[in-house]
Amino acid sequence: MNPKSSARLVLIAGLPASGKSTLARRLAPRIPAIRLDKDQWTTELGHDPWDDQFRVLIEGQLWTLTRELLAQGQSVILEWGHWARVERDEKRLGARALGVAVELRYLDAPLEVLIDRARRRNESGEWSASPMTRAHFEQWATIFQPPSDEELRLYDEPVPEVCRRG
Ligand SMILES: Nc1ncnc2c1ncn2[C@@H]1O[C@H](COP(=O)(O)OP(=O)(O)OP(=O)(O)O)[C@@H](O)[C@H]1O
Ligand SMILES: [Mg+2]
Repeated sequence: MNPKSSARLVLIAGLPASGKSTLARRLAPRIPAIRLDKDQWTTELGHDPWDDQFRVLIEGQLWTLTRELLAQGQSVILEWGHWARVERDEKRLGARALGVAVELRYLDAPLEVLIDRARRRNESGEWSASPMTRAHFEQWATIFQPPSDEELRLYDEPVPEVCRRG
C-alpha cells in the first residue's frame, strides 16, 4: 500500500514470554513509536493481568487511544499477543482506514523455550502476577492462531532500520 500518513502501526503477535515486550522496547525509539503495554497498564490500574473481563475492556480502550494517536500521525506499537486472526484483521483494517501502514511481527519459539523463560521470569520477580505454568502454555498453544504466510503478506514491510521479521 501507499500510506497517506508517515505514522505506522506495529502489531506484535506471539504467546506469553515470546519476547513481545522486549522487541517493542527495542523498536519504540527507532521508529519512533509509542508502546502501549497492556500488562503494565493493567497492573498500574490495580487489576490482575489474568482478569479476562478487564482485559477486554483495557484492550478496547487502548485500541481507541491507538486510533487517535495514529490519526494524529503518531506511530504505535501494540504488544499484547493478538492470538486470534480476527483481532489482527481488525487492527490491520482499522489502521489502513486511517491511511496508516501496518506491520505484523510474529514471534515464534518452541513451547519448551517459552516455558523455561516464564519459569525464570516467575523466579526473578519480573512477573508479579500469578505464575504461568507448563499447563497454561500447553493449553494456550492449542488456542493461539499463528499467522499464515498468506496473512503475513497482507501487511506492509517492517520499518527499514529493522528489516527482519520477528
Ligand atoms: N530472544 C530472547 N532470548 C532469550 N530470552 C528472551 C528473549 N526475548 C525475551 N526474553 C526473556 O523472556 C522473558 C519474556 O520476555 P517478554 O517479557 O519480552 O515476553 P512477552 O512476550 O512480552 O511476554 P508477555 O506476553 O507475558 O507479556 C523476559 O524475561 C525476557 O528477558
Ligand atoms: Mg509483554
